[in-house]
Amino acid sequence: MKTKVLNIEDLKSDTAQSALAEAGSLLRSGQLVAFPTETVYGLGANGLDGAACAKIYEAKGRPSDNPLILHVADRAMVEGIAEDIPPMAEKLMAAFLPGPMTLILRRTSIVPDRITGGLATVGVRMPESAAARAMIRAAGVPVAAPSANLSGRPSPTTAASVLRDMDGRIPLILDGGACRFGVESTIVDCTGPVATILRPGAITREMLREVLGGVKLDPALVGANVTPKAPGMKYKHYAPKAPLTLLEGAPAKMAAAFRRHVRHLQKEGRTVGILASDEVCDELRDLVPDELRKSYGPQGDLAAIAAHIYEALIAFDDTAADALLGEGTTETGLGLAIMNRLHKASGGNTITI
Ligand code: TXA
Ligand code: MG
Repeated sequence: MKTKVLNIEDLKSDTAQSALAEAGSLLRSGQLVAFPTETVYGLGANGLDGAACAKIYEAKGRPSDNPLILHVADRAMVEGIAEDIPPMAEKLMAAFLPGPMTLILRRTSIVPDRITGGLATVGVRMPESAAARAMIRAAGVPVAAPSANLSGRPSPTTAASVLRDMDGRIPLILDGGACRFGVESTIVDCTGPVATILRPGAITREMLREVLGGVKLDPALVGANVTPKAPGMKYKHYAPKAPLTLLEGAPAKMAAAFRRHVRHLQKEGRTVGILASDEVCDELRDLVPDELRKSYGPQGDLAAIAAHIYEALIAFDDTAADALLGEGTTETGLGLAIMNRLHKASGGNTITI
C-alpha cells in the first residue's frame, strides 16, 4: 500500500479542506488515517466499525487485549458512546474539554466489543486540536485511535515519525505539524467512587485536584506491584533501540554525574548517547559528539521537555549509539507524565546520583 502524506497545517486552506474530506471518506469506508492531535499523532479508524478497528491492531502489532479510546468532536458524540455519566466526569469535561484528557466511562451498546478488550467501559477523548476535531467531523463518527507508532515504540509527535513506523501500512497521514504537548492524554477513570489517574499527562494531578478535590493515582503508577487498570500501561513502551539508563537527582549535580557515567561507558567501548537538558548537553561537548547529544530543553522547563522527549528518543535510532543516558526531572506537575514515560523507556533502569 502506498502511504500518502497531506499537509493540513493551514486548516482553512482548500488543500487542507480537501485532505480532511478525503480522510473522512477513507474512515467511513473502513480504512485507517493517521492524524495530529495536541498530544501525539493518532492512528484512526471508524470507532463504531469493529472490522475497521481490527486493522489498527494489525498495523501497529498491538496486543488484542489492549482497548482503544474513542475520539469525539462534541458533546453529542459523547452521549452516543457513554452512559451513566457521573457528576465528577461532568465537572472534568466542563473544566478541561476539549483538551488533553481521556475519561473512562461506562459504554453504550453501540461501542464494538472488539475495541474495549471485553471491558464494560470506554475511553472518551475530545481533543483540543482543531485539526483532529475537523477530521472527526468529516468522518461523522467517533474515531478510535491509539498513538500512531508500532506497538512498544515511542509515540510520534511529527508526521515524519508516523511515516517512519507506518509507511506502506496505511493509506493516509494528515500532517498538522509538531504536537503541542508531546505526551499522551491524561487518563482519568470516572467509574469508581473517586476519580483515578490511570496515565499521567498534561492535565496534571494538581489541576484535577483543583476541580474535584479528591483524585487518586492508580497504585501501579507509584510502583505498587499490581496490574495497571489501563491495560496498555503494563507493556514495555516508548523504548528506543539502544538501552536507556536514567540519572535522577539534584539538577546541579547532573553534569558531573553524566561525565562520570559517560566516561565509564566509553571505557567499556560503548558509543554513548545522551538525552538531557541544554545545561548538561553543553557541559559534555568535549566528551560526546553533537549527533549523540540530544537536548530536550532547559533544565526544569517541563513543557519543553514533554514536547521534545519522544522525538529525541526516536532520533537516537538513526545514530550509532549503543547505550543511552537520560536526565530525569521532577515528578510534580507535568513532570509526573514525563518521568512515567522515561521510566518505561528505560525499563526501570535508574541510577540515583
Ligand atoms: O493522547 C492520547 O491519548 C493519544 C492520542 C492519539 O489521542 N492516544 C493514545 O492512545 O495514547 P493509546 O491507545 O496509545 O493509549 C490509550 C491507553 C492504553 O493504555 C489503553 O490500555 C487505555 O488507554 N485504555 C483504553 N480504554 C480503556 C478502558 N476502557 N479502561 C482503561 N484503560 C483504557
Ligand atoms: Mg500508545
